[in-house]
This record gives sequence, C-alpha cells and structure tokens, in this order.
Amino acid sequence: MNIDLKGKRILVTGASRGLGYSIATHLLDAGARVALHYNRSREGVEQIHSRYPSQAVMVGADLSDLKSTEALFRNAVEELGGLDVLVNNAGMVLTMPPDMDTDAWSEAWELTMNVNLRAPALLSRMAVNHFVANGGGRIVMMASRAAFRGDTEDYMEYAASKGGLVSYTRSIARAFGKKGVKAFLIAPGFVRTDMAKEAIELYGEDYVVGGIALDRLTEPDDVSPTVVLLASGLADHATGCTIDINAGSYVH
Ligand SMILES: NC(=O)c1ccc[n+]([C@@H]2O[C@H](COP(=O)([O-])OP(=O)(O)OC[C@H]3O[C@@H](n4cnc5c(N)ncnc54)[C@H](OP(=O)(O)O)[C@@H]3O)[C@@H](O)[C@H]2O)c1
Repeated sequence: MNIDLKGKRILVTGASRGLGYSIATHLLDAGARVALHYNRSREGVEQIHSRYPSQAVMVGADLSDLKSTEALFRNAVEELGGLDVLVNNAGMVLTMPPDMDTDAWSEAWELTMNVNLRAPALLSRMAVNHFVANGGGRIVMMASRAAFRGDTEDYMEYAASKGGLVSYTRSIARAFGKKGVKAFLIAPGFVRTDMAKEAIELYGEDYVVGGIALDRLTEPDDVSPTVVLLASGLADHATGCTIDINAGSYVH
C-alpha cells in the first residue's frame, strides 16, 4: 500500500527537532504540503525546508503564549491556503520534584500546562471550526504512555498534562465525528530524542531496553509512519483511539 498525501495541507507543531522533525519529513515524502512550526530551533525547520522548498513553509510561535499560538494557526492556514490535518506534536517536560517550593512549582505547572495542554487545545478548537466549515479534517495528538500508566515522582505534572490531552481528543472525536472531524492519539513510550535523553542517560540504555519487548530503543522514524496513515484518511474509523507505540512495554 502506497500512501499518497498530495493535496493534503498539514500543520506540524514542534517540527524543528525530534519526533516532529521526523513526522514532518515523512508527511512531505508522502507528498503533503506542510507548515513546519518551530520556536527556538529555526535551523531545524530550515533544514527540512531546503529539501522540500515547494511543499513546505515555516511558521514560528511560542506555544506558552496564547496570542502567539492563535497567530500560528492563522498563519499556517494563510500560508497553506487552508488546512486538512493538524498534528499537535510540540511538547516539553520539566523536572518537578515533590519538595519543590510552591511558587516554583506553580510557575512550572503553568508553563507545562500552557505548552502541553492549552496550546494543543486552542489549536484544535481553531482546527475544528475550520474543518467543520470546510468539509472536515483530522487531528493527531502526541500524548504519552505517561498519560495512562503515570510517571515517576519528578514528572507527575507532565503526565497530567498528557492525560488532559487524552480526554480532550476523545471529546473532539465524539462531538464532531458526524461533522467530518476525526481525532486520534499517539502514546509513545521512550523515543530517542532530546526530551528523553536525560532519562535515558539517568537510567542507562540497557535498563530502558530491559523494560520493552523489542531489542532496541524506539527512534522517531518508528513513530512517524503511523502519523502518515492517520493523516491519509485510511484509518478514519479508528477515530477516538489511542495508538500505543512503546515497543511492547505493556506486554513485557
Ligand atoms: N521522546 C519521548 O520519549 C516521548 C515520549 C512520549 C511522548 N513524547 C511527546 O512527543 C512530542 C515530541 O517530543 P520530542 O521527544 O520530539 O521532544 P523534543 O526533541 O524535546 O522536541 C520538542 C519540540 O517541541 C517544541 N517546543 C517545546 N516547547 C515549545 C514552546 N514553548 N513553544 C513552541 N514549541 C515548543 C520544540 O521547538 P523548538 O526546539 O523550536 O523550541 C521542539 O520542536 C512531545 O509532545 C512529547 O511530550 C515524547
């Protein structure tokens, strides 16, 4: 089966590094036109753009900022001349130990929730309105295994932000399915990116591989083909679902 995404206009948040970089590249390879979102790492999206100059556009935004997030959606739609798929991939994690003082905890909580939950929720709201008015569309949310099994004591707030995404995405699938909007979740385990680097170094790669059913760590390219499939429409009857991509850690 060859998946052809020609004619599809897609916004990928956090396309500058890690999972988003790989996802954007796979979508472009399949023929889509892609708005590559970045915040601090513009060079990442410039690299992709130089390889696909006629298919890709670059859009910057700080997702901790409400107005910047709103402008991102408008700019992407304007640059692409519409939107068919939104991939809410960007995210961040902060170490928040249980003995953190309340002011520092509150500040870190707000930032985590703004980037990991408020921004994808706002982009999704705008996308839903756009899709309903323009014949439908799809949303892919990057959640995490942490939303389902929880996380360790330093990362409980990260897990909570991803848990919020799960119910928000299911609600979109439920409320707007008959109006042509499909919404899916992907829940990766450890994936080798900058985000997971610290944890992989802390626990050691052997320990992490010991917790999965396969013989190597998940790479971003192990996740991206699923996004291509979901964006294509071939999996629309899976709307509302979560796809666990964690190298079999649940069955190990
Ligand atoms: N890696 C894992 O093990 C793992 C597991 C489960 C889920 N996930 C999820 O997968 C997604 C991608 O993670 P990753 O591992 O690829 O992380 P990463 O390598 O750290 O990349 C994070 C991306 O998010 C963007 N970003 C972060 N803060 C932002 C902000 N304030 N405004 C705008 N963009 C911001 C970054 O943009 P700039 O660099 O341009 O600032 C970057 O493109 C995240 O939602 C993460 O929670 C990752």
